[in-house]
Amino acid sequence: MIKKIDRVEEATCILVITDGKTFDNSVVTADEQRYFLEALEEQEFAFLKSPSRLIMVVKAEDQTDETVEKVRRNAAKAGDSANANNYKTITIYGEEAKLVLAAAEGVALNNYQFLPYFSDQDKRSNSLKEVCIYSQAVAEEEVEKLNILTTAVWSARDMVNMPVISFNTTEFVARVKEMMASSDASVEVLDKAQITALGMGGLLGVNLGSTVPPAMIKLEYAAKGCEEQKPLVLVGKGVLYDTGGYNLKPGNYMSGMKSDMSGAAVVANAFWSVAKAKLPTRIITLIPLTDNRIGDNALVSGDVIKMYNGKTVEVLNTDAEGRLILADALSYADTFHPALVIDAATLTGAAERAIGKYAIVGMGNADEATMQHLKKVAAATGERIAEFPFWDDYKEVLKSEIADLKNLGEINAGMITAGKFLEHFTESPYIHLDIAGVSFTDKKESYRGSGGTGVGVRTLFDFVSEWSNKR
Ligand code: BES
Ligand code: ZN
Ligand code: ZN
Repeated sequence: MIKKIDRVEEATCILVITDGKTFDNSVVTADEQRYFLEALEEQEFAFLKSPSRLIMVVKAEDQTDETVEKVRRNAAKAGDSANANNYKTITIYGEEAKLVLAAAEGVALNNYQFLPYFSDQDKRSNSLKEVCIYSQAVAEEEVEKLNILTTAVWSARDMVNMPVISFNTTEFVARVKEMMASSDASVEVLDKAQITALGMGGLLGVNLGSTVPPAMIKLEYAAKGCEEQKPLVLVGKGVLYDTGGYNLKPGNYMSGMKSDMSGAAVVANAFWSVAKAKLPTRIITLIPLTDNRIGDNALVSGDVIKMYNGKTVEVLNTDAEGRLILADALSYADTFHPALVIDAATLTGAAERAIGKYAIVGMGNADEATMQHLKKVAAATGERIAEFPFWDDYKEVLKSEIADLKNLGEINAGMITAGKFLEHFTESPYIHLDIAGVSFTDKKESYRGSGGTGVGVRTLFDFVSEWSNKR
């Protein structure tokens, strides 16, 4: 929990954000200040530890995106120290609102743990329970927003980290309903019969190998007065587990594939935070859900399926399943006449191979200003988007001999051909975010932690927030 305080009783675990030149702080003695000013000439992070106090200092000389991200990461280190030394509260001081908030964000996001499967949860639980902000520059609303976003990112991580044995499609739906109960959003869930009646052959096809029925979640939120707006529609890939299907993932390529619903978790939680913060906008979120398995009746290579928009697809690789379920969700999105559609999906290994964990792979046909705006917001949150080309040349390889399209291109530029495949299924201005590289990490990556990262939640929230103000 993050809160703003006006008075400091007895802070014993302290994090100061400074430009490294001035150090005007009543809680730090003159001697200590001299020590820090010297240390900060060479470092960005310094600390002093005594039996009764832990003082940590992070230096930030400006407020560029890079510096703000360094503050998050150094603050995450401070959070680790606070836990290592058993502190319950960390008090953050500083004069620049943006930097203090970034520090609080770094500490809060870093403090996430996924413990439900440990039998000694209590023993493992972090000591740190509270982040106190002592800074006049920081507004109460900003702290409130940070609490919402921390909750949303933690929740997205939880959903990703849950193994499919206890978090399948049915449980995902239940979880989303429960979440949305604390907001003004409406929830509608299409069940298998409705999905069949609508002819969503992509979602039904991928689901053929599963014993759990598919679902399509539709979330909607409109602030008062925004009900008639053309909505922003978010779409998230919800493959609860990706075995690859009969094109089974070999070796350890399957490990981590419980995270193949990261897009779904990200858009559900970004949507929840928008509704919770009551942003002045209209937003719809669509989440197609199924697992991708082998089974008596599962799709095989060569099958042809008919999608919701009537187009037929030759399935040449059952492991390229994400685009099949997203295609139906995207054409369904068009029925709500969106101003813009953004999807988030762990869609291709190619995206991960191209730029690793360092950025989201983005592409699309929405106007230049919208794409630039999204990229700018993403860079500011520390969730960079690297834009890839979206030329029509990449469509060529998706032509099938026997159907309208095939679900597999050449091996080259797989992240782009996947995006171009999806583009066939929407008439709206469209941005595709391939989060395969950033959504899950095997080892701790600063405040993103290990396991599910929730990357995308904060960017989508901030984008909606600015975008709705501009309309
Ligand atoms: N879920 C995977 C993509 C993925 C890979 C996500 C690694 C996260 C980490 C997706 O469904 C997939 O298997 N894609 C194939 C597509 C190929 C068969 C055209 C891939 O990228 O290999
Ligand atoms: Zn796959
Ligand atoms: Zn997949």
